[in-house]
Amino acid sequence: MNYRHAYHAGNFADIAKHLALVAVLLHLRKKEKPFFVLDTHGGRGRYDLGAGEAARTGEAAAGIGRLLPLAGEGDRPAALKTYLDLVAREGAGHYPGSPLLAARLLRPQDRLVAVEKHPEDAAALMAALAPFGNARAVEGDGYGRLSTLLPPKERRGLILIDPPYEAPDEFEQAAAALKAACRRFATGIYLLWFPIKSPAAADAFCGEALAAGIAKALRIDITLAARPQDGKPRLTAAGLLVVNPPFGLDAEMRAAAALLASAVGARLEVHRLAGEGT
Ligand SMILES: C[S@@+](CC[C@H](N)C(=O)[O-])C[C@H]1O[C@@H](n2cnc3c(N)ncnc32)[C@H](O)[C@@H]1O
Repeated sequence: MNYRHAYHAGNFADIAKHLALVAVLLHLRKKEKPFFVLDTHGGRGRYDLGAGEAARTGEAAAGIGRLLPLAGEGDRPAALKTYLDLVAREGAGHYPGSPLLAARLLRPQDRLVAVEKHPEDAAALMAALAPFGNARAVEGDGYGRLSTLLPPKERRGLILIDPPYEAPDEFEQAAAALKAACRRFATGIYLLWFPIKSPAAADAFCGEALAAGIAKALRIDITLAARPQDGKPRLTAAGLLVVNPPFGLDAEMRAAAALLASAVGARLEVHRLAGEGT
């Protein structure tokens, strides 16, 4: 396990993923009924962007570092505003990972379990979630928890599957995990993140991940308009497969596209893969 998210936290791909996460959580909060969040690959929960890892890649500086200063300008769509407020709340030079963003949006009746396999990052995650009585950090294998924790007793919720794609078979593993999880908890909202190194491979992955029974799905792609100039091999595009997207998620994401293009130089596209709409 070499992957450490600290090198990439707050980059263009994190922005799109975390914006979608916040948009889905705001949707779940519209009803009083409790919801459950499972974050299968949680990371550290909170990132110090002044530390060596982030400084070495410069990805956060080119991502959230450019977006955040524009947070106060103009009227922002609800999810974008909430996301930027939550980032700003961490204080200068810090960035909240997905479990911390989710924990901050829980109400007393809601519940979060975040799983992280790397012992050091799991310890950091436990510390980040310690203040939240209804959020639990677990050291272990996130894929395994999909079968033990689903379906949740709340019967409504969000599952974020955000693996590092380090192992050669991780695309197959992630696709199989999504399909199996959807069979266990068919009404859950799922966000499955994936890197796009080849458009054809990404299309094939989405086709493979969508089981025949999945009636509604969106795909959200984010692509850097220009390759970073430092010559290092870097990810320039990523996607999110959203199963059972809440009504209005596509519009919330599209509403952020102009700002992401001007501030971060990233193109955001939303496509409906199954169900009604475009
Ligand atoms: C892309 S990062 C997660 C970032 C986080 N979801 C966020 O958005 O802030 C992937 C994380 O998965 C962890 N990991 C790798 N294999 C895992 C597994 N089988 N179960 C749980 N975590 C795993 C890695 O250590 C890494 O911290």
